Amino acid sequence: MNIHERPRRLRRTEGMRRLVRQVHLDPANLILPVFVREGAKEPIAIGSMPGVVQHTQSSLKAAVNEAAKAGVGSVMIFGVPANKDANGDAACAHDSILADAIRWTKAEVGDSLPVIADLCLDEFTTHGHCGVLDAHGNVDNDATLAQYQHMAITLADAGADILGLSGMMDGQVGAVRTALDSQGKIDTVLLAYAAKYASAFYGPFRDAVESTLDGDRKSYQQDPGNVMEAIREVRLDVAEGADIVMVKPGLPYLDVIARVSGEVDIPVAAYVVSGESSMIEAAAAAGMLDRERAILETLTSVKRAGADIIATYWATEVAHLLNR
Ligand code: PBG
Repeated sequence: MNIHERPRRLRRTEGMRRLVRQVHLDPANLILPVFVREGAKEPIAIGSMPGVVQHTQSSLKAAVNEAAKAGVGSVMIFGVPANKDANGDAACAHDSILADAIRWTKAEVGDSLPVIADLCLDEFTTHGHCGVLDAHGNVDNDATLAQYQHMAITLADAGADILGLSGMMDGQVGAVRTALDSQGKIDTVLLAYAAKYASAFYGPFRDAVESTLDGDRKSYQQDPGNVMEAIREVRLDVAEGADIVMVKPGLPYLDVIARVSGEVDIPVAAYVVSGESSMIEAAAAAGMLDRERAILETLTSVKRAGADIIATYWATEVAHLLNR
């Protein structure tokens, strides 16, 4: 046989494969999303998200301590309030469940684990939309920005290091940056969900936050058929002052992650969302695939596509696996 190129040489042993491996997962680049339920007396399981709970104050403390100890990079907090209203006013209150959870977390982990607060109204509105509605029941972009500005100040006051702008309103990054600057809060990092698609894979998350949404978010989240639009959204967010841009979901949008990472000179994050995780959990529970391998392969693929940072419900578990 006259074969000069034999790629298999570099795959022969684990040592050789490790030597030439280009992409490595690192706990430092993982974000752990957590849910905190106002008034919960014990952690509440989420039926559609195996292994994920709505935390109480004390289970939150344990979870963030474990994440910090395992070397996870950051924790992202979602609040589940006891009461909702049409405008999501509770989201702007200094004693909102989200603001409380930020303070509880900061008290545990200090600066060792940067705290991201989700900045969006959907958990706080009775109709479940990410913004306030106009007289016709449509999401009112600019009225929503005013609420986001209030919410941003509240969350920054509570100690959030990073605000996760997940509402997909036009101008949200600029509006929040302006509000923070006007209060002298120049160090708050803005993580812009720049390219967030209207996805079926958010289904389990809506259980986790007890969403009341009736309808869909297609008038503000992106159409799955588009990629140019993602580049436009990213360009706008960068111009408005985003520090990190995110693509969401992850696995079904690897091409978007790759395009975006080639486009910007700031970190790119990707969110492996609830439905993506639940799919793997369900298949593994049914004996259809090897759970750990599927998880590591999924996260590796997202990183290989160009994500510097990955939000995943498996963050702490994967950190333990990598540390082993
Ligand atoms: C809404 C928000 C959603 C997720 C994060 N923030 C759901 C939505 O847009 O309907 C989804 C995360 C997941 O599915 O894991 N602010």
